[in-house]
Amino acid sequence: METNILRLAIQKKGRLADKSLELLKSAGIRIDNYSQQLLIKAQNYDLELLFIRDDDIPEYVQDGVADIGIVGENVILESEKKLDVIEKLGFGKCRMSIAIPKADKFNSVKDFEGKNIATSYPKILKNYLAENKVSSNVHYISGSVEITPNINLADAIFDIVSTGSTLKSNGLKEVEIVLKSEAVLVANKNLSEKKKELLEQILFRTRAVNKAKDNKYILLNAPNEALPNIVKLLPGVKSPTVMPLALEGWSSVHTVISEDDFWGKIENLKSAGAEGILVLPIEKIIA
Ligand code: PRP
Ligand code: ZN
Repeated sequence: METNILRLAIQKKGRLADKSLELLKSAGIRIDNYSQQLLIKAQNYDLELLFIRDDDIPEYVQDGVADIGIVGENVILESEKKLDVIEKLGFGKCRMSIAIPKADKFNSVKDFEGKNIATSYPKILKNYLAENKVSSNVHYISGSVEITPNINLADAIFDIVSTGSTLKSNGLKEVEIVLKSEAVLVANKNLSEKKKELLEQILFRTRAVNKAKDNKYILLNAPNEALPNIVKLLPGVKSPTVMPLALEGWSSVHTVISEDDFWGKIENLKSAGAEGILVLPIEKIIA
């Protein structure tokens, strides 16, 4: 039966689980009494959370068991399910790479011709090898792929690399980045109008949160003669706000800058004459 509660599938345990819950929380969606329940209704929103294994999320969303899901692009690609990818979420960033024992030589992907590669992502790997006209023996292994070269089960592995510490502690080195991945929000292709509306409302909130994360609020003081140069350095939401200080000949400048050019901007501001620079996190931006 069609309900008017939007059901979101998220990872029960693993690299995306906490961040997915955090995103909902920062969007003002309350999920209390979260314990070991697999299905739980949000306190203040027509949203239900379904906690499952990340590998199951694409199928659940495709089949409409869940309406939307938060899952890694890598998992979607491997699943080959039909889903709408609504939005990149900016967390769970990782690479999918081929790695070999540290002491082994590497020239190019052609080196893997006739070699054994172990992976939990055989479809993505086979596509990549085919594109590069290399034929290798791809062995599917569901977990602990990184130990296979050490026990002579494989010449190389293809797996997720995030910090790189798993590779390092298993004496492996990353030699070929096949693709980059991050958490995305996916939706079933046939959502009802009511559910689309609920999804839009959630997106409005999560976008405000994510936009805020990418930006900083800056306050600084400057002598008036330095203002033209400082204002030029600072594109605000409209333009920076400039207010006179009680101290004659000085002003205070407020603005928002993106995290990306943050350090470069700060140095330029200092050399342009800015003093007492304060940098504050922003909670939400409603453009
Ligand atoms: C991945 C991968 C590695 C590890 C790499 O597993 O299989 O074991 O993360 O991360 P690192 O570079 O930070 O060490 P994941 O946590 O996704 O678990 P799963 O494969 O069981 O879903
Ligand atoms: Zn997994």
